[in-house]
Amino acid sequence: MITDRQLKQMWFDFFSSKGFKKIAGYSIIPENDASVLFTIAGMHPLVPYLLGEKHPAGNKIFDVQRCLRTNDIDEVGDESHFTCFEMLGCWTLGECDKSAMIKLSYEFLTSPKYLGIPKQKLAVSVFAGDENAPRDEEAAKAWRECGVEKIFYLPKQHNWWALGAGVGPCGTDTEMFIDTGKEPCCENCSPACDCGKYLEIWNDVFMQYKVEKEGEKPILLAKPNIDTGMGLERTLAVINGVKSAYQIGCLKKAMDFVEANSATFEQKSARIIVDHVRAATFVLGDEKGVVPSNVGQGYILRRLIRRAINHARKIAFDSKKFTMLADMFIQEYGEDYIDIKQNGQKVKDELLKEIEKFSKAIEEGHREFEKVIAGIEKHKLFAREGEQVENIISGKAAFRLYDTFGFPIELTKELAEERGYSVDEEGFKQKFKEHQEKSRSISAGAFKGGLAGDGEILQKYHTATHLLLAGLRKLNPYVTQKGSNITEERMRFDFNFDRKLTAEELEFLQNFVNDAIQKNIPVVCEQMPLEQAKQSGALGSFENKYGENVKVYTIGDVSKEICGGPHAKSTGELGKFRIVKEESSSAGVRRIKAVLE
Ligand code: ALA
Repeated sequence: MITDRQLKQMWFDFFSSKGFKKIAGYSIIPENDASVLFTIAGMHPLVPYLLGEKHPAGNKIFDVQRCLRTNDIDEVGDESHFTCFEMLGCWTLGECDKSAMIKLSYEFLTSPKYLGIPKQKLAVSVFAGDENAPRDEEAAKAWRECGVEKIFYLPKQHNWWALGAGVGPCGTDTEMFIDTGKEPCCENCSPACDCGKYLEIWNDVFMQYKVEKEGEKPILLAKPNIDTGMGLERTLAVINGVKSAYQIGCLKKAMDFVEANSATFEQKSARIIVDHVRAATFVLGDEKGVVPSNVGQGYILRRLIRRAINHARKIAFDSKKFTMLADMFIQEYGEDYIDIKQNGQKVKDELLKEIEKFSKAIEEGHREFEKVIAGIEKHKLFAREGEQVENIISGKAAFRLYDTFGFPIELTKELAEERGYSVDEEGFKQKFKEHQEKSRSISAGAFKGGLAGDGEILQKYHTATHLLLAGLRKLNPYVTQKGSNITEERMRFDFNFDRKLTAEELEFLQNFVNDAIQKNIPVVCEQMPLEQAKQSGALGSFENKYGENVKVYTIGDVSKEICGGPHAKSTGELGKFRIVKEESSSAGVRRIKAVLE
């Protein structure tokens, strides 16, 4: 059995021996692409370099890259689907010598020092040619020279590669497969069919083109490249001749741990737990510092953790043991991604926090869910003659589960499915919309009322208090707001702190706020029920009545507070923040006066 660690090591050794340079894998949060939440392919962080920018490590590089995709989340639990995965990648930037790369690929695949796959078991596909690019005889010739005989010419649908929606660097590719030796499924059996005879293990993309806008024709790149990618999990399963990467290396260890600690073990739930906790470890351990929340990456993270908790309940696995799974992952992946090692403690703390938050909501939610089902069953029992009672959870009930108990609709659907029920999703959406409209009109009223005398400058000061509180909480996470007063000339902010702040601390605060201003971060307002706001980790007064709607103002990952507003539209409007005074306000409470200039 070749393990994940061994395969990575082979990849590193092979490409360094060929004069390629190892680069560190990038963050799982994309730097240059706001269109998606996570890094979705090995080459994704390298797009600027594939479009011609110079890479600091030179033009021949390789790495292992953590990736996350949620489009197949519902498939996770079977043998081959994952949300998070790793890609082994290797690139020649500004150079596209197909024959040279194919020969390297062949060597790695067949050499006994590396994968040692017998050449007769290899099959490859190359581009068949169309109006955008010619038939790839060059690639086919290179494979023939290596002695590979099973060469299939396939159309764009199979042998053209681009990221996501197809915009950016792209091109024809040659894909490598293991011929499992199964009988061909038909006369035209090829790697294009999914009968399972041919299993893909590697892809060399000849990135000679780029597409500038969705739907446009590809145009030639001034500097073509080669982008090769091997999906670690899939390839491991194929070369080891097993059905699933969950049977190998680190994932197997994690599966064994879940099995040993669950009273009613089930493969599917165990795989979901292992996949989702691994994904959560990747995200929480990432240098970008995402934590569970109700927006963006934080929402996906929350969904992954909460879904894992649900499956843990199902197989009687104590979800607090997620931290032990996380420990395995931190140790394993800390080798490849230094931030995961550095943030190990944070990963575990945040997992526990989220488990705690969710367990409260879910206990209540599950009871409520059972009540809904019992209600329908009772209705059936007492149905009038000829009356049809269907196994459908109404949009209203689903919305209540969401609104009051924090059940994402996906969770309600999943629980419903297990019981042979479906959910009226349209009805749910309708309720959701009505609710949004209602909150908007409530807030419009509040906005009008509170706006008298609120000039723009007051809004800016108001936003500055949020940034200042965020800065103070970096000094001490227990700081809370004790009061604030804003005029057109200055802001005053009171907070609990048991001593005078030092000059360094004041300088840190001032820089902290000015940095956030510099970054011109949008100030985003969302309406949500108080319960949900609390769960999202928003700061603020929780004295409001249960079930009431509140506004949550989020400033990037800097600040999240429950607040009536109004605020500046983005931090860039604030100008320059300067602290003019720090003094005592009352026992244990300090006061900062500051101005915007
Ligand atoms: N970027 C190519 C892939 O992900 C290599 O398959």
